[in-house]
Amino acid sequence: MTSNLRLGVNIDHVATIRNARGGDHPDPVRAAILAARAGADGITAHLREDRRHISDNDIARLRDILEIPLNLEMAATDEMVKIALAHKPHAACIVPEKREEKTTEGGLDAVGGHNHLVPFIAAMRDAGIRVSLFVEPDRAQLDAAKTAGAQVVELHTGAYCLAEGEALRDELRKIITAAAHADAIGLECHAGHGLSFDTVGPIAEVPQIVELNIGHFLIGEAIFGGLESTITRMRSLMNNARAQVSGEKTA
Ligand code: PXP
Repeated sequence: MTSNLRLGVNIDHVATIRNARGGDHPDPVRAAILAARAGADGITAHLREDRRHISDNDIARLRDILEIPLNLEMAATDEMVKIALAHKPHAACIVPEKREEKTTEGGLDAVGGHNHLVPFIAAMRDAGIRVSLFVEPDRAQLDAAKTAGAQVVELHTGAYCLAEGEALRDELRKIITAAAHADAIGLECHAGHGLSFDTVGPIAEVPQIVELNIGHFLIGEAIFGGLESTITRMRSLMNNARAQVSGEKTA
């Protein structure tokens, strides 16, 4: 079946392994090509200020070689916007960035950072880049993303993925409510962070969410199952969950 839920595969951690030794193996661009073959609808890569994983050259090569959309994750800085405008990826997802963090720990503060974000969003939109803000599933953040000019929001699923029991149900409810609000105010809704085979189902069931971006789990699990079969399995879990809510049956 064709699913209306897209899978963006984040290849950052292929570059993390490469950079642990220097050199050029394993190559994240090769992983991106395999991911596309296995059913990824897009590739996500986060060019961090400290270049801890993805490099400028990776972005240039991805832009040259990829036949599926590239989503560039980036901080709202002059340097990153200049790079985005030079490469014109299909989409750019603005994330908060701290040098000392292991990963993107929370959503962007689109409320407090509204005036800072507006010109960056406008510059990228003017260049034809679809702009997304990575935010917590919170109504005020979504409203601020909309008025700042973003076309898309990506809901941070990190807290949901770490929660258990009643806390997990609460986190899921926040995502369900936020996705409905995003849709109601005209924002395309994506989600991601921390998703795995175990946690993807309930998120894939949220009807307003049209794209999931998944990285760390897929790259880690690929050590055991291979990248193509790991992505194929994730795709089919997503498709099955989505089919349940839309009443379709999958093989
Ligand atoms: N979406 C965004 C905006 C992110 O910053 C990340 C992490 O780079 C992801 C999705 C993917 O998260 P994970 O690697 O935990 O699957």
